[in-house]
Amino acid sequence: MNRPDCLLYLGSVKAAAGGGHSNRFLCYTKSLKMKRSILVLGLICLLGLSVQGQTKRLSNETPQQKQARMKWWTDARFGMFIHWGLYALPARHEWVKNHERLSNEQYQKYFDEFDPDHFDPKKWAKEAKAAGMKYAVLTSKHHEGFCLFDSKYTDYKATNTKAHRDLVKEFVDAFRAEGIKVGFYYSLIDWHHPDFTIDRNHPLRPANLKDSAAYARLNKGKDFSKYREYLFHQVRELLTNYGKIDILWLDFSYPGPYGKGHEDWHSKELLAMIRKLQPGIIVDNRLDLNDYADGYDFETPEQVSPKVLEKYRGKTWETCQTFSGSWGYYRDETTWKTHRQLLDLLISSVANGGNLILNVGPTARGEFDYRAENALDSMAYWMHANSKAIYQCTYAPATFKVPEGTKLSYNPVTKRLYLFLYEYPENGKLVLPGYNNQIKYTQFLNDDSELPYKASDTDANDLVLTLPKLKPPYEIPVVEMILK
Ligand code: GLC
Repeated sequence: MNRPDCLLYLGSVKAAAGGGHSNRFLCYTKSLKMKRSILVLGLICLLGLSVQGQTKRLSNETPQQKQARMKWWTDARFGMFIHWGLYALPARHEWVKNHERLSNEQYQKYFDEFDPDHFDPKKWAKEAKAAGMKYAVLTSKHHEGFCLFDSKYTDYKATNTKAHRDLVKEFVDAFRAEGIKVGFYYSLIDWHHPDFTIDRNHPLRPANLKDSAAYARLNKGKDFSKYREYLFHQVRELLTNYGKIDILWLDFSYPGPYGKGHEDWHSKELLAMIRKLQPGIIVDNRLDLNDYADGYDFETPEQVSPKVLEKYRGKTWETCQTFSGSWGYYRDETTWKTHRQLLDLLISSVANGGNLILNVGPTARGEFDYRAENALDSMAYWMHANSKAIYQCTYAPATFKVPEGTKLSYNPVTKRLYLFLYEYPENGKLVLPGYNNQIKYTQFLNDDSELPYKASDTDANDLVLTLPKLKPPYEIPVVEMILK
């Protein structure tokens, strides 16, 4: 950086920081030493700015108030996502309209034939509850624009199909009756609404995604502000007509050229309306308000591997995951996760201080597919025995090293430590490094059967736990340690 550039740079940093006193800056440049200190000052200013950027706020809720508002959710740790819409009929991904670049006319047959004769949300709710899921989020509208609810602002809704009912209302009633908290997924994107302008993610996008003239041609006569009004109306309906709604999962923003972000959605105003209508509600982070500390309540790492979750420690987050490779029902998809993979996702979420929301994509007849049923049953079996290692839990205090072949979670209220046995020791011995004098009692979580331990012969700081030859009948058994 040469001298004038440097001054310009510092000047602009200061101006951006809202400061005056530019004369003082000019004097400093007289000696080399001084120059260096200016540079340092500039860096500090920049740092200050970026910190300021992260702490910009939209409301005056304190971190403590936020924590209290979200307590039920952070304690819950495990929820059910339900992606259900017209895309269940083509049964080849919920983005089928986009992937195959289908027009509204080509997609209309799915609306005409939608007839979910087996739709029974009471059954869904019972299965979610059995699997240990404490909340459920249903797609009230996905990107295709079809509404499962009875909206005053469109005809493109379940009540006008062979279902003839408000399916969202039945979902809410059924899940609430099982004591499960309810949430709505609502797509900010709408590939059916006539005023939703065609962008790079739209089914009718131009062949060349950078062809501005083509966008202009395609969007002639569209008025996005009308769509925005529709979006506000529908969110208001969802948050007014169905009682207390616990979660709103808005999806999603893709700012930049030919995309959409907070300026399109009017995200700040939308969020203000949401919080006004439902003061306790928990909102995801896809409104493109990431510059604001309170522009969202939780982060949403989507379909990431358990390893990646480690970097979310200390944040508030929920990883969303599918049973197979699609959110909507996909008949011919075969990459279904194994029971072990699903367990690993749940355990790794909790062991890193986050939530897991697992997705089911019901069939067009309104049922959970047999593969989803199997997956849920296996979770139910495991959770029945081991859920104490999940609810209210988080990562263990750093003083506890993670023994080989295991993961750890910790309940800070009951002060119990949970050891997930990914590998069952063949010799029946498990070394707990540095755990001596910290443990009062150890047992298997599934049956409260005692597990003896003693100080290690080789290092008195370590404990050696004795495990029975017979592994408990769980893919990943759990040892419960009661701390001193
Ligand atoms: C993505 C997809 C969508 C899915 C969602 C769930 O944003 O567009 O199909 O509903 O993620 O996280």
